[in-house]
Amino acid sequence: MYKVHCLNNISQKGLALLSSDYELTDDVSEADVILVRSANMHEMEFSDNLKAVARAGAGVNNIPLDALAEREIPVFNTPGANANAVKELVLCALLLAARDIVGGAAWCRHNADDENIAKSAEKAKKQFAGTEIMGKTLGVIGLGAIGRLVIPAAEALGMKTVGYDPFLDAERAATISPNLRFTDDLLDLCASCDYITIHVPATPKTKGMIGADEIAAMKEGAAFLNFSRDTLVDNDAMRAGLTSGKVRRYVTDFATPEVMTMEGALVLPHLGASTAEAEENCAEMAVREVMDYLETGKKVHC
Ligand code: MLT
Repeated sequence: MYKVHCLNNISQKGLALLSSDYELTDDVSEADVILVRSANMHEMEFSDNLKAVARAGAGVNNIPLDALAEREIPVFNTPGANANAVKELVLCALLLAARDIVGGAAWCRHNADDENIAKSAEKAKKQFAGTEIMGKTLGVIGLGAIGRLVIPAAEALGMKTVGYDPFLDAERAATISPNLRFTDDLLDLCASCDYITIHVPATPKTKGMIGADEIAAMKEGAAFLNFSRDTLVDNDAMRAGLTSGKVRRYVTDFATPEVMTMEGALVLPHLGASTAEAEENCAEMAVREVMDYLETGKKVHC
């Protein structure tokens, strides 16, 4: 019997797949398997029994990969299982960056007691006027599971698209959309887009990938969306970009102390994969991967 410990809430739909060879335990020190969402495992001590770790999500920066590899404990993740949820939030963020929905809604709430609200709203609406995304250009950095869903969705809304991915060539990028302009030059993407969204993993190589040079190359008043990881963006450079007006809007899914005080930043508490469907898909995939491995020795891990 394998003992499974969940470090975070893992969807029941996934846990229900565990066969009778598995039982849940509250005691991490006896776990054969750890299932995790976003808990930071870097300082954890692992039981001698531990045989596999599975993350119900794509990013694995909360998992000590090297320490586990030394003990030959495989780590599984679920790339693609929450990609649709993130894509939908990216589309939402694009529209939030184009139209001042947040400012307009806050204004209404603030003026709830105004007896002449209709008249005041007529006056106020100029303050919240936006722009349309149709005809504008979206740059997508990283053409993996999420990036390749965002491109046709943005095109369906009338946007032009530009893609950059150092691991892809033009021929493979063309399979995502015939209308995508592929570039192997990040600065070219920055210079040619009204909106830019980034979808790359957090690694030492991608740390600060969007810095002063990339922001300097951007169009005046560009909007930047970050639904990948906070470390990809150099916060000092982004703050300077927002202050100068070079960057009009920074929508980020990572509520770090540095971005909370940035004027022009719209900050969300890591909602990218927070949908019922994504939670279920990730949990199911993580559980299947672990059971496959323990039953067949198949190691499809990251
Ligand atoms: C992921 O790594 O899959 C995403 O950041 C979503 C999440 O973990 O909540």
